[in-house]
Amino acid sequence: MLIKKADKIKPSEITSESVYLNRRRFMQGLAGTAALIAAGSARAIPEYDLDSDLPRYPGPDWLQGLLRASEPNAAFSSQEDLAPYHSVISHNNFYEFGTGKKDPAKNAQNFNTDPWKVEISGEVDKPGVYNLEDIVKPHRLEERIYRLRCVEAWSMVIPWIGLPLSQLLKQVGPNSKAKYVEFTTLQDPQRMPGQRSLFSSLDWPYVEALRIDEAMNPLTLLAVGVYGNALPPQNGAPLRLVVPWKYGFKSIKSIVRIRLLEEMPKVTWNETAPREYGFYANVNPAVNHPRWSQATERRLPSSLFNPNVIDTRMFNGYADEVAHLYAGMDLKKWF
Ligand code: MTE
Repeated sequence: MLIKKADKIKPSEITSESVYLNRRRFMQGLAGTAALIAAGSARAIPEYDLDSDLPRYPGPDWLQGLLRASEPNAAFSSQEDLAPYHSVISHNNFYEFGTGKKDPAKNAQNFNTDPWKVEISGEVDKPGVYNLEDIVKPHRLEERIYRLRCVEAWSMVIPWIGLPLSQLLKQVGPNSKAKYVEFTTLQDPQRMPGQRSLFSSLDWPYVEALRIDEAMNPLTLLAVGVYGNALPPQNGAPLRLVVPWKYGFKSIKSIVRIRLLEEMPKVTWNETAPREYGFYANVNPAVNHPRWSQATERRLPSSLFNPNVIDTRMFNGYADEVAHLYAGMDLKKWF
């Protein structure tokens, strides 16, 4: 997401810290899950072995019970090694809190996200301004382990907790004119220092959108948690989108508005640099970014001496689930 010339990209943005390699691996926990179920524990998702010196994010009281009752959804989960907890919570893109990878974790810690309201409007039967609690509570939360592929050519495997977006949309009833779903992040320069920066490269608020059939696809998740706890502020608390077959910039954070629209809306990165970031932004190793290749990616943890470069897969490996959405489309044109 760099609006700068290739020669201005710092090596530190390309290579990641060697410390990643030294961190412990985490229990992914099928065995752990089975043991917990056998022991009659309410918690079916694994108790992750998180570094004890790193912060946890329990979330508001109303969410804690829902997180505890959440269930792993194996059918929608990758079996790959998880990214270390510290990478997930400290290597972030969240320009509202700064453009450096470590800025969000540093600058978002006092970002209070409870209470939180979400406006749902446009072509929908039940528009309104809802308390987050009221739209999340009717649903059983699921844990899904997804690959996240950033357009900058790094990736992580992350255990999210959330609900399929389709469930929320069905709750509010899109009407027959609803062709697109637009999402907007909070705009509050008092609380989001990146929005008051004189050097800000983006127009706020951050906006993203999906076609309605993409939004209704069973893979599309609204996340409220990660790694067994609530979302940390730097990861988009209290509500973010996760669209695993698209570049990470589509997975918009800290959502305050969801609008159902008849026309394709303008979206932040596409408006900022249309030649570099398309509306669709499907992960596609055959369509390079104008300034770098998209054929491979650095899977975190990664370091200078062990870069852990792997081949990027079409639709980030989710072709079976989503390729039909783009049948007949020229994906070089609609990148
Ligand atoms: N959402 C908002 N509001 N602002 C952002 O800067 N960055 C995007 C996406 N969502 C971003 C955002 C990008 S480029 C990526 S790769 C992912 O968030 C990163 O999510 P993570 O920090 O939880 O790994």
